[in-house]
Amino acid sequence: MFRSIQWKLVSIYILLILLAMEVVGGFLLQSMERYHIDNLSNSMEGKAQLISNFIERHMYPVPRYQEINNLIQGFTGSDSEIMYIVILDADANVISTTDIEEEKFQQGVKLLTPETTKAALGEYARDIRQDSATKKRFMHMAYPVLNGNKVVGIIYLISSMENIYATIGDIKTILFMATVIAMVITGFLGYALSKTITGPIQEVTQKAALMAKGDFDHKIPVKSDDEIGKLTKMFNFLTTRLKETLEQISDEKEKIEAILLNMADGVIALNSRGEIIHINPAARQMLLLNNKHIDNEFLQSLLKVNFENYLNEKPEDKEILIKTNNAILKSIIAPLKREDLVVGLIIVLQDITKQHKLDDMRKEFVANVSHELRTPLTTIKSYTETLLDGALTEHELAESFLNVVNNEADRMTRLVSDLLELSRLDNRETRWEKSPISLEMVLKDVIDKMAVNARKKKQELRYDLPDGISKVYADRDKIEQVFQNIMSNAIKYTPEGGSIYVYLKQDGKYIKVVFRDSGIGIPKEDLSRIFERFYRVDKTRSRQMGGTGLGLSIAKEIINAHNGEILIQSTPGHGTEVSILLPAIDEIA
Ligand SMILES: Nc1ncnc2c1ncn2[C@@H]1O[C@H](COP(=O)(O)OP(=O)(O)OP(=O)(O)O)[C@@H](O)[C@H]1O
Ligand SMILES: [Mg+2]
Repeated sequence: MFRSIQWKLVSIYILLILLAMEVVGGFLLQSMERYHIDNLSNSMEGKAQLISNFIERHMYPVPRYQEINNLIQGFTGSDSEIMYIVILDADANVISTTDIEEEKFQQGVKLLTPETTKAALGEYARDIRQDSATKKRFMHMAYPVLNGNKVVGIIYLISSMENIYATIGDIKTILFMATVIAMVITGFLGYALSKTITGPIQEVTQKAALMAKGDFDHKIPVKSDDEIGKLTKMFNFLTTRLKETLEQISDEKEKIEAILLNMADGVIALNSRGEIIHINPAARQMLLLNNKHIDNEFLQSLLKVNFENYLNEKPEDKEILIKTNNAILKSIIAPLKREDLVVGLIIVLQDITKQHKLDDMRKEFVANVSHELRTPLTTIKSYTETLLDGALTEHELAESFLNVVNNEADRMTRLVSDLLELSRLDNRETRWEKSPISLEMVLKDVIDKMAVNARKKKQELRYDLPDGISKVYADRDKIEQVFQNIMSNAIKYTPEGGSIYVYLKQDGKYIKVVFRDSGIGIPKEDLSRIFERFYRVDKTRSRQMGGTGLGLSIAKEIINAHNGEILIQSTPGHGTEVSILLPAIDEIA
């Protein structure tokens, strides 16, 4: 508490008052003492002179004791401050004294004091001395009585100075009281005055403490226009600016955090020592970290980069491919610079698994197409060569060869038209001619057309097409193409004597068409890939049956374009069930 400015100010005020009073009091008392002493000495000198005038004629040639005695008794009185008058002869022997009891001075006794000695030589002398017993101060004065130039006697006067010191003592008391009162008043005034200075400072301090805790909502009232007022105003301004700036910063931070949190790319930030300081959720997910702690070692071994070395050798952007268990990641390492100084690294991770897969698929597709086209071409080429080499003359052989060539050409045509169709579907160039159609009618037509093939393989073909099933909004020709493909698959991949069952039913919002066969089935591992282009379970067998492996992929594209779904279930050796779901028209309307 006593360390505060308030107490310092109060102490300074009090000390100043004390000092001022001391100095003033000192001077005052000194000059008062001098004045009183001068006064006393003047009056004693006057008296001595008067006495000297009176007794001079009684001193010469021999002192006349009686006269002198009578004379001096008249000079003492209650109003006089002179205590003793002693008349001495020229040799300082006491002639007469007002000390009637002769306690101090006795007639005839030589009185040698510094003053009387001096006066005996004709000089006036004065001194103040303290009585060693009573501690009282007295003024001693010796005055020569002259006859012409000759000293004929000495007047020795002693005055008490108690009155003077009593007065000075009174003044001292008054001064002391005045000092105390002045100090008390100064104390109060100083306290009040310094409070007006320290009050706002305390308030600023309290508010600053609140600010340090993050509370910026307080303003300090500005009470004056002086320096303190200006300080308060400035402080309020500072608070507002600080609040605004902090809000801006936290807004920016939130934005960046939101971006980092939600971005699909993984971001890892490292400091200048190569330590990880931030990793966003996408990066965690890509590196399969979940909530595990990530350490530098792990990251360095994954990227095959030593961060410290990399940071030391003028780092530039670097691209590294990482293969994790189930993904391919492209990682870009870039230096984080601040004014040409590398302050860290940023690693951006991109999941390019899909891209990679698509790339692979594209390559595979091109290879497949080339292969599928080359096979019939090779056959055509070799058969025509054989024919040209002479087989043409053998009519029967030539006819069978030409049949093969024809079939292969048909196959190529089918393949090319399938590919064209797929490309149109991919590029959304297919012209859909959708209208409400009854799937029952479409199925009937398909069954009619395919029944011949089933009969050829002695397959039992059953169907259940109930009435009153909702129509679907679809392109009739395309849907028929899908049904035909699935039906032909069922017949193709079901051995002779097997059975095929087709049925139609309403399934909630959808119309469901099911083709069930008792064929060879599809192994589990192939089921997921069955809709891929050119994918066939048994390539040679399928090809022998005239298949290109594009039928199901086209079917899927067509069904998808109708917001439908195509599902396949199969048990190898037992049969396959293909279901097609198309939205019922009530739902579309
Ligand atoms: N009902 C089925 N039973 C057994 N396997 C089937 C059945 N349907 C399709 N598959 C298998 O799926 C593959 C792909 O069928 P998809 O219809 O796409 O081609 P494809 O019939 O070989 O040729 P395309 O239909 O173009 O003439 C077939 O090669 C066959 O191995
Ligand atoms: Mg097929």
